[in-house]
Amino acid sequence: MHQDIEEILLSEEQLQEKIADLGKQITRDYAGDHLLLLGTLKGAVPFIADLARAIELPLELDYMAVASYGNSTQSSGIVRIIKDLEGPIDQKHVLIIEDIIDSGLTLHYLIDLLKRRNPLSLKVCSLLNKERLRIKDVPIDYYGFTIPDKFVVGYGLDYAQLYRNLPYIGILKPSVYSEEATPEKTHKSMAEQK
Ligand code: PRP
Ligand code: MN
Ligand code: MG
Repeated sequence: MHQDIEEILLSEEQLQEKIADLGKQITRDYAGDHLLLLGTLKGAVPFIADLARAIELPLELDYMAVASYGNSTQSSGIVRIIKDLEGPIDQKHVLIIEDIIDSGLTLHYLIDLLKRRNPLSLKVCSLLNKERLRIKDVPIDYYGFTIPDKFVVGYGLDYAQLYRNLPYIGILKPSVYSEEATPEKTHKSMAEQK
């Protein structure tokens, strides 16, 4: 186990077993259709890579990168598009792939934006569903695990851009973020360091 990890919340085996189940479920639900998996950069990359290989359908992959402005405790949820999809989606069944739903702000914004592009259908699949009060209530059609309101990293999820390469989901030792709390950084909220 990595020295900065307090506890492994979800092992590699647990993740892969759940992803295989999700893949089967999605394959059944979309039988006869083409599907576009829309991954959100950067956190959802390991999940979408494994999930895509667990789905047996004609499948396209595309990605969007979005960044939240300012403090995520604000309910305004202003999000900026860093990278957009390559093409139109009005002829496509779109499944948004997220690694985690936390405040709900990112997903709320994405759903709003994508609905206006009139996809044939729009659904959401998130590996993790954090148990907390959402700032924005969002529909989650498929999810892997409900997790407690702890700071988790690994399998795509980062703290200050690190730990994305861990093969499991772990709880980060609080000493890691207090050690790094320089006077400059203490002004930043955890949300801004996501
Ligand atoms: C994280 C995570 C989700 C989002 C969830 O992404 O990957 O996309 O936050 O949080 P929310 O429900 O409170 O909006 P982040 O903005 O850290 O970017 P990253 O994927 O590049 O790490
Ligand atoms: Mn993300
Ligand atoms: Mg992040």
